[in-house]
Amino acid sequence: MKLHGEIKLPGDKSITHRALMIGAMCEGDVIVNNPLISEDIMASINILIALGIEVKQYHDHLIICGKGIMGFTKPKIRLNCFNSGTTARLLLGLLTGYDFDAVLIGDKSLSKRPMRRVVKHLQALNSKILLKEENYLPAHILPTNICANQIKLDVSSAQVKTAVMLAALKSKKTTTIYELTKSRDHTERLLAYLGCDISVKGLEIKLSGKNELKPLAISVPGDFSAAAFFIVATLITPGSEILIKACGLNSTRSGIFTVLKQIGANIKIFNQKTVNNEISGDILIKYQDKLKPFLIDGALVPLLIDEIPILALLATQIDGISIIKSASELRVKESDRIKVTTEVLSLLNADVRELKDGLIISGKTRLKPQVVNTYNDHRISMMLKVARLICEDLIIINSDCDKISYPEFENDLRILMK
Ligand code: S3P
Repeated sequence: MKLHGEIKLPGDKSITHRALMIGAMCEGDVIVNNPLISEDIMASINILIALGIEVKQYHDHLIICGKGIMGFTKPKIRLNCFNSGTTARLLLGLLTGYDFDAVLIGDKSLSKRPMRRVVKHLQALNSKILLKEENYLPAHILPTNICANQIKLDVSSAQVKTAVMLAALKSKKTTTIYELTKSRDHTERLLAYLGCDISVKGLEIKLSGKNELKPLAISVPGDFSAAAFFIVATLITPGSEILIKACGLNSTRSGIFTVLKQIGANIKIFNQKTVNNEISGDILIKYQDKLKPFLIDGALVPLLIDEIPILALLATQIDGISIIKSASELRVKESDRIKVTTEVLSLLNADVRELKDGLIISGKTRLKPQVVNTYNDHRISMMLKVARLICEDLIIINSDCDKISYPEFENDLRILMK
């Protein structure tokens, strides 16, 4: 079995969430082309509807009827973010600064994920938000007026940064945000594209407080985090070669390229273009024998944070010791991804050692089929489906969770299998 052919990926999850929420704050109708439609995105769409925003859904695009930055209305229900951390974190910032209150809830996994990291910075902008045990959902967001401030982020998180920016949009004065290290910058790019007075210099972001967002069309590029599964699938199945079309290539997302360079992988980029401030292009990837082990740590981690489980699988198929450090953020994702990745790959006979903030993987090992659980984490599920390409009788339990970010993943992978 090998992979061959072309694939066009679903729209980027992070950019789709932002297009929806920021689109709702524009002064009119915003067309969003190639949006991702998945469970996480439906959580954001349904919440916007509950906030009085009309969202029209068509086959390959959405129209969000924006009502301006102050245009939301008081929701009549508690707002359910289900499994979506991005929905919850971004909404904390979006929903603060109005004359109504709102309550955010989530599923069992999301209700265990930390929210204080967002709320403590929002409080510096005069937000009033109550959290269960001062850290978890449900979150009760109370009426308030936002005041500009200088915010020094203490975690490298695009969700936290974006929540602060969405809150700051309601202030009349300049808010300055200092990032710890660079995290994905889709919000900055989208706000600038829509005419917001925002400037970014290295790790410093300034939002002037003179904000009116123009209702311009937004095109969502293919999801680079989805591409990562196909890239690794190609690298571990001899004779494979695939072309990934129109994929997002934003450098704050594509940290994997640094790893691919380290290991000596054969990858080429074509047809690059920039649309609504986001770069995209086609990626050609070929199988290659004798890859070198890799080291991931420090500021590289936020640039590939969602790709670490699939990179761990790749490391099991490379001779030598690969090391992933500085990645303790993985412990507070949809599952504890350090623990779960160690557990599932070890069960398949891989040599994986769990660190407090990462993993040490010694390859190359021949994976042995077992019954494995995804722990309802979509990125673990998709990683296991890629592992099954080289470990045929693998049985994956609870793999329905792909629908969180990529409902057609299994199908799209099957189409490439020759
Ligand atoms: C996201 C940011 C990342 C990532 C998540 C989506 C975003 O989280 O893991 O899947 O859309 O901003 P953090 O920035 O909180 O690490």
